[in-house]
Amino acid sequence: MNDATKNVGRVGDGTRAVRAGLPEPAKNEPTLPGPVFAAHFHLPGEVSGPYAYGRDDNPTWTLLERAVSELEAPGREDTETLVFASGMAAISAVLFSQLRAGDAVVLPSDGYQVLPLVGAQLEAYGVEVRTAPTGGDAQLEVLDGARLLWIESPSNPGLDVCDIRRLAEAAHARGALVAVDNTLATPLGQRPLELGADFSVASGTKQLTGHGDVLLGYVTGRGAEAMAAVRRWRKIVGAISGPMEAWLAHRSIATLQLRVDRQNATALAVAEALRRRPEVSGLRYPGLSDDPSHKIATQQMRRYGSVVSFTLPTRTRAERFLAALRLVEDATSFGGVRSTAERRRRWGGDAVPEGFIRMSVGAEDPEDLVADVLRALDASAE
Ligand SMILES: Cc1ncc(COP(=O)(O)O)c(C=O)c1O
Repeated sequence: MNDATKNVGRVGDGTRAVRAGLPEPAKNEPTLPGPVFAAHFHLPGEVSGPYAYGRDDNPTWTLLERAVSELEAPGREDTETLVFASGMAAISAVLFSQLRAGDAVVLPSDGYQVLPLVGAQLEAYGVEVRTAPTGGDAQLEVLDGARLLWIESPSNPGLDVCDIRRLAEAAHARGALVAVDNTLATPLGQRPLELGADFSVASGTKQLTGHGDVLLGYVTGRGAEAMAAVRRWRKIVGAISGPMEAWLAHRSIATLQLRVDRQNATALAVAEALRRRPEVSGLRYPGLSDDPSHKIATQQMRRYGSVVSFTLPTRTRAERFLAALRLVEDATSFGGVRSTAERRRRWGGDAVPEGFIRMSVGAEDPEDLVADVLRALDASAE
């Protein structure tokens, strides 16, 4: 791994983020080289060297992949990162490259709403799909004989947390691989490989890139054979990131620690303000000291994320609340610098109440945001 901070000993997350994946300084060259737009590369004679065809590899991906590895698994030489066109491309790459007909896989029953569609596709290919909730480490109960355990912690949108180390140990004892969806936490909030996982997989569309303008995914994994299969899957399916997206993602990682720290601190402030409101129920934020996930989150997470979930009494109340917000856009996705919120049931996928709101806290001034949320709650009561 070409760790840009390796010569200065232990560094903080901010230093690591601003330097992540940078090439060795070279006179008259830019600090972060621009995107390389190339469908093919000069290739006289035998096929050799890293760059031959643009679906297989690209120098802009290489730098971004190094950056993500340095954040997901600092100091580990045995890991590799591969970037993808989206989080779903990355998730599918792990599941479809590692599983075969006759294998069993354990998925969360409360994970990202597209995961059941992936599960149905796996079943169509002869894979046995078992599900259990994230909370209470319930996936332990269905692990026997499984080939792969898929964890999403914190889960989206319910924000439950499971004990990743405990689950990984149990899975490995049964010969199963372990993948963790690290989208919500980001690599600055949680390092699944240090907790025992074989793969950390994420949508870079969310807080990693943080501006709501890029779709991206990545897989960081250990085990040369397993990662070779993921790479082969990317080549077969061609779910690749454009060079511009990869470059924008790398550029955005420089501010990751600034954004994450700001957004997470404000998310806690918003959650604390919501906790005092009688019309709010089911409030979840792993950083709240009385959240059911707080204890285990504190053990395994370094930061708690920028998403807060809660329920208003009715669908109408939730819709009025969303319409009354001025600083928070009614939009899906999360992790961006501009706050968003949505009534999750409008998609139909998640098993949540009609008034369930998932709010993604952005980089606005905390006092402005809290005031806006409280004002919108008052306005929605009328
Ligand atoms: C936890 C989680 N994983 C994966 C994804 C999929 O990512 P993408 O939309 O980049 O494909 C999402 C999208 O919302 C998500 O929330």
